[in-house]
Amino acid sequence: MKIEGKEYRTIWFENNTVKIIDQTKLPHQFIIKDLKTVKDSINAIKIMEVRGAPLIGATAAYGLVLAILENNDQSFLKKSANDLINSRPTAINLKWAVDRMMKKLSGVNSNEILNIALNESKKICEEDVKFCENIGLNGLKIIEEIYNKKKDTVNILTHCNAGWLATINWGTATSPIYHAHKKKIPVHVWVDETRPRNQGANLTSYELNEEEISNTIIADNTGGILMQRGEVDMCIVGTDRTLANGDVCNKIGTYLKALAAKDNNVPFYVALPSSTIDWDIKNYKDIPIEERNSEELSHIEGLDENGNIKKVKIYPKKSKSMNLAFDITPAKYVTGLITEKGVCEASEKGLKDLFK
Ligand code: MRU
Repeated sequence: MKIEGKEYRTIWFENNTVKIIDQTKLPHQFIIKDLKTVKDSINAIKIMEVRGAPLIGATAAYGLVLAILENNDQSFLKKSANDLINSRPTAINLKWAVDRMMKKLSGVNSNEILNIALNESKKICEEDVKFCENIGLNGLKIIEEIYNKKKDTVNILTHCNAGWLATINWGTATSPIYHAHKKKIPVHVWVDETRPRNQGANLTSYELNEEEISNTIIADNTGGILMQRGEVDMCIVGTDRTLANGDVCNKIGTYLKALAAKDNNVPFYVALPSSTIDWDIKNYKDIPIEERNSEELSHIEGLDENGNIKKVKIYPKKSKSMNLAFDITPAKYVTGLITEKGVCEASEKGLKDLFK
C-alpha cells in the first residue's frame, strides 16, 4: 500500500539485509531500518519496530535467513529459532513461521540451506499478501451488503492496527475496507486510539490517511455510545491467535468492544489468515497473554513544539500500573470470521468446514 504516494511492503530482503519500516517512529517519522543479524530481528519484534501477528511471523522467518548468513551452523540455527519464538508470546504466527522454516531447514546441507531459507521466507510473505487480499475480497461482500441496504456511508469501527502495517500488504481488518474504497463504496472508519501503544491512532489512522480513506480517531471508551447512537454499522478487528473453537485473542480492549456490539446488535467480525489459527490449544485460559512494561502506560510519546519526539510521564509518581497487552473475545460474541477461504461462523464446525 502507499506512503506519500509510493507503494511499499512492510518487509523485504535486499543485499543480505532485511528492510523494515520502523513502526515505533510512525506517524511522525518514516524510517526504513536495516536488520543485519538475528539479534536485530529479535529486538525489532520485542520493541515493536515490527508488530502485528503476520508481520512478526515474517520477520522471524527472515531472522533465520540472517542467522544462516551470520553462522551457517545447525546448533546456532536451533538456538536462533528458540530465541525468535520467545521474543513475543501471544501472536501464534511467530511460532507458526519459525516451525515452518525449521521443518525445511533442520539437517539441511550448509551449501543449500541459505537458498532454501530465503525461498521459504519469501513464500511466507507472498502467501500472506495473497491471503490478506482474499480476506479483503471476502469481507468486501459484507460491506457491500450493508451499503446496498443503507445506501449511505458504511461506518466501520476497528481496534488496534490490523492494517497493512501489521501484515506484509493489505492488512486483515483493513483489507475489506481498502477493497470497498477501490470499488467506490463510501466508507468511514472509527479508529480506536488503542492505549497504551496507540496503534490505532499512530498506525491505522496514518495508513488510512495515506490511502485517502475517511477516518476518525476515537478514545477507546467511545465505541459504546457510538453504537447506541446507531453510528457504527459493523466492527472488524484482527487477531493474534484464534482458537479452533472460534475464541479470539486480540489487542486488549477488543472484548469490551465485542460486548458493546452484542448489546447493540452491531455485527462484530474478526479478519484473519489461517496462519493465525491455533489448532492445538483447547481452552482460552491456556493462551499466553503478554504483560508489557508498565512504562507504556505511565509515559506517553509525541512531538514537542520543536517537532522532536519526546516522552513524558503522565501518572502520579507513586502509582503502580499494569499492562496486559491482549484479551479474549469468546466465540459467542463474534458474528463471523473473515478468512482467505471465505467467511465462517466462529466455531469449531465453521473453521473445520473451511480448513479441513
Ligand atoms: O501488540 P501488537 O501491536 O503486535 O498487536 C497487534 C494486534 O493486536 C492486531 O490487532 C492483531 O495482531 C492483528 S494483526 C493483523
